[in-house]
Amino acid sequence: MVTVQDVREMAGEETITMLTAYDTPTAEIVDEAGIDVVLVGDSVGNAVLGYDSTLPVTVDEMASHTGAVARGVEDALVVADLPFLSFGYDEATAVENAGRMLKEEGASAVKIESGEHTVALTETLTQVGIPVMAHLGLTPQHVNELGGYSRQGTSEEAAEEMLDLALAHEEAGAFSLVLEHVPANIAAAITEALSIPTIGIGAGPDTDGQVLVVNDAVGLSDWSPSFSKQFGDVRGEMERAVEDFRDAVESGEFPADEHSHVEENLDDVY
Ligand code: KIV
Repeated sequence: MVTVQDVREMAGEETITMLTAYDTPTAEIVDEAGIDVVLVGDSVGNAVLGYDSTLPVTVDEMASHTGAVARGVEDALVVADLPFLSFGYDEATAVENAGRMLKEEGASAVKIESGEHTVALTETLTQVGIPVMAHLGLTPQHVNELGGYSRQGTSEEAAEEMLDLALAHEEAGAFSLVLEHVPANIAAAITEALSIPTIGIGAGPDTDGQVLVVNDAVGLSDWSPSFSKQFGDVRGEMERAVEDFRDAVESGEFPADEHSHVEENLDDVY
């Protein structure tokens, strides 16, 4: 069983692998492959629920998907994302929402899209026993403020601010930090400065680990960001299987004798 402590100790020692998952069968596949951390990302909004951003994702939806994932995982660390407006304005509500993911759904930690407003919250959650994975760089819940999903930390001032926030979250007790869509040299500098591990997505090769959205990694998404990589063609395979089913039903080839049962004792009835 991978623990928060194991992940913390992997910094600079072992490469951390993390993938998202949103349902039990995917979680089983990810876990059985030996992935260290399974993130129930609020990317469930785009990847699975058909929203065009992560903003509509609710605490109830995150709880339901976190439970489904936790039921499929035996070894990996399960981390649940806190969705938009479930934290950041009222500490009691944030603790309750985060606590629900551990207490009721089987996660072992939460991830929070971070900023100045989450330093104190990270400390509180850590103190009450809810481990926090921080997240800096592109934080998609801020899409309206950022004006899109562009690379972050591209000026000296922005990069320095990111480093300060990373150090503040480490100090507050975060056990790891996701760096999303930032220049590789900034990610490398932050990784060097921290003692907790960094996990990059679109952040170059020098972070302590790498994470991708599973739908992008397996080739299920109809679109994926340029920093992602498709390691399979699940969408193509599903399309082929669905078309084969349609053709087999229309031609009468399915169901065949081996898929059907005739009950001999019903001769008197029919
Ligand atoms: O929601 C998510 O899947 C994430 C990862 C991309 C890090 O935040």
